[in-house]
Amino acid sequence: MSEKELVRFEKRGAIGIITVDNPPVNALSPGVPEGILAAVEAGNADPAIKAMILTGAGRSFIAGADIREFGKGKPRPARKTQDVLEESEKPIVAAIHGFALGGGLEYALGCHYRVALKGTKVGLPEIALGLLPGGGGTQRLPRLIGPKKALDLITSGRHVPAEEAKQLGILDEVFDADLVGSAVRFAEGIADTRPFRRICELSDKLEADMKAEPGMFDAKRKEIARRARNQKAPYNNIAAVEASTTLPFAEGLKRERELFEELEKSEESRALRYAFFAEREAMRVPDIGKDVPVKKVETMAVVGAGTMGGGIAMSCADFGMPVRLLEASQEALDRGMARIRKNYEVSVQRGSLAADEMERRFARITPVIDYDDIADCDAVIEAVFEQMDVKKEVFAKLDATMKDGALLLTNTSALDVDEIASATKRPEAVAGAHFFSPANVMKMLEVVRGEKSSKETVASTMALGKAIGKVPVACGNCDGFVANRSRAPFNSEMVILLEEGCLPEQVDKVMIDFGYPMGPFAVGDLAGLDIGYAGRKRRADANPNYRKLPIADKLYEMGRYGQKTGAGWYRYEKGDRTPHPDPEVAKIIKETAAEMGVEQKTFTDQEILRRLLLSSVNEACRIIEEGIAYRASDIDIMWLYGFGFPRYRGGLMFWADQIGSRDVYNQIAAWHQQYGDRWKPSALLRQLAESGTPFREAKPPAK
Ligand code: 3HC
Ligand code: NAI
Repeated sequence: MSEKELVRFEKRGAIGIITVDNPPVNALSPGVPEGILAAVEAGNADPAIKAMILTGAGRSFIAGADIREFGKGKPRPARKTQDVLEESEKPIVAAIHGFALGGGLEYALGCHYRVALKGTKVGLPEIALGLLPGGGGTQRLPRLIGPKKALDLITSGRHVPAEEAKQLGILDEVFDADLVGSAVRFAEGIADTRPFRRICELSDKLEADMKAEPGMFDAKRKEIARRARNQKAPYNNIAAVEASTTLPFAEGLKRERELFEELEKSEESRALRYAFFAEREAMRVPDIGKDVPVKKVETMAVVGAGTMGGGIAMSCADFGMPVRLLEASQEALDRGMARIRKNYEVSVQRGSLAADEMERRFARITPVIDYDDIADCDAVIEAVFEQMDVKKEVFAKLDATMKDGALLLTNTSALDVDEIASATKRPEAVAGAHFFSPANVMKMLEVVRGEKSSKETVASTMALGKAIGKVPVACGNCDGFVANRSRAPFNSEMVILLEEGCLPEQVDKVMIDFGYPMGPFAVGDLAGLDIGYAGRKRRADANPNYRKLPIADKLYEMGRYGQKTGAGWYRYEKGDRTPHPDPEVAKIIKETAAEMGVEQKTFTDQEILRRLLLSSVNEACRIIEEGIAYRASDIDIMWLYGFGFPRYRGGLMFWADQIGSRDVYNQIAAWHQQYGDRWKPSALLRQLAESGTPFREAKPPAK
């Protein structure tokens, strides 16, 4: 594509309009910076032009650098566009709509004025990609709004709404409509103002903030320490903003560049960039094209007001969707509504939700008892007990009452979606919509395709998920679907490690050091040991070769269900969620291992980590091989959003690629010899190893 097509320059009276036109989001791909430079030069050279506007065509201003271009070792341009914009002899106004993010906001900060349309969002989200604003953002933003606020924006990476951005001083004006027309009038108004403000020359806010709070950078480093462990980007972002307060502008830019280059090559940034694209790729279901119609869902019904149903109803209400919540009895309904209210109240008490907003959300949820009251809803999600007979009874009723064209969705964790669908005369309208607990917080949504689910049903469920703030990933129907099935070997292996000589606190520490927010045993105590027990029992009944976990079973049988009973893998003080290692558990582990005749060993951290994660990598390969998951990166997204896998490690399969498919195969094959069939390498794993193919390129066999 030629530069001309990516950037247009036209005149409206005395105002030159520079329009970036690089769909879909005007990323700064090769050709865009060059096009802007040429336009600025043309504007400055044209005596008829008094001021210029930089704007974006389509849905957005500029969403930042082209993320695909990072890590390619491209040479640095001789002149940075932001500097050229700032040095322009004639004033330039950034006219912003949609998003001005990263490099996009940095270009706007190079301009002399910034105006925006209502609804615009601006921000420097580079930290989420393991980077820092490398186009002068860490030097200009502190000069414009003060280092304290700049530090908060840059280290959070958050998208700031236009009104707030105006209050902060990032934007000069916010318009209700007609961005370009309004910006032209604005530009005409300032065209003759001299001198106009160049951010690089400002220093008053730097001095004021540093006087008021000289320790802000150390305080920030302390504040983020836990969240930022194993990562460089948060610290480099702080260091770059700090440089704006200690170095002259040009020196600060150099320091920013050094810190940026260090991040660009980092493993952490590579992983985070991979995750950015993997998340978007997950929205694409291979055989479902854009031609498949998507049903608009404007009203929702949820059946079952328990833990999950309540959370799902909240998710819908949080995103402005009216929900009808149906229960089997008035009593259960009242209980469910009271729990929802309590959950919202906790958010209000914590300060994360305004009281009036809570009322608006709560009012969107209407409790009902009668199926006739949900019949006209566009979609229904069933979240009743995990029992096939109960589910089938509910689906038969839904089939009898719901309007034609409604989506009939089940939140089952592991039951057969096809069997549930068979209770209806419209199995094509049925699919799984598997939320994760707590459903109003966790963003993961597994969209399970039944054998008869229509493409329209799947595409519409994916779109519905996105509309209520979830990250939907489609997959096939099997026991446990993809996320929980790929996680199951990890859950077994962590208990088997205890048999061999580990303690829960040792395993948890390894996983926390790896980057998980909590260790898997502490998570087990939070979820409840009764949940795992029920699933194991069901599987053991169905499969005589099922690997039993006697230590976990014993704790359950002793009534140690986790936090809710004050004891599980750990013990808990009353009213406190801190897990304390429990000698009683250590004793049970020792006794059980002796009864089983298992030899006790010591483990290195790496052995523990690999035993847990590689068991799941092998199963993930099997899932792909069976065509239940469409691609390895979908499994990564499930681990990131469903299980708290550290995002800066990319996901399970991306992590396995750091070891390499050959070495993973060799390790698993060795454990197969040592431990038997549960470590049998999957055929796909062997193929990947033999062909030297990375895990992230693993795909199901062509049909
Ligand atoms: N580079 C390359 N592609 C990008 C992109 C970028 N910066 N931003 C978005 N895209 C692509 C997406 O991959 C997607 O492609 P697809 O249709 O092929 O899947 C398409 O644009 C649309 O994106 P979304 O599906 O995410 O659209 P939404 O409307 O949901 O969101 C958005 C829009 C908020 C702009 C979101 O895309 C986003 O957050 N983009 C990234 C913003 C960002 O991180 N910018 C900073 C980049 S780093 C930088 O600028 C460094 C500099 O300081 C030197
Ligand atoms: P729960 O026991 O908290 O809630 C179930 C609710 O369904 C109860 O309020 C019950 O009164 C109601 N109910 C039962 N039969 C009904 C009927 N015939 N009509 C209307 N309402 C009825 O259970 P939970 O945990 O919310 O689970 C619900 C579903 O979600 C199950 O299928 C479960 O496997 C699945 N799930 C659970 C997760 C979890 O972590 N709890 C995670 C993901 C899925």
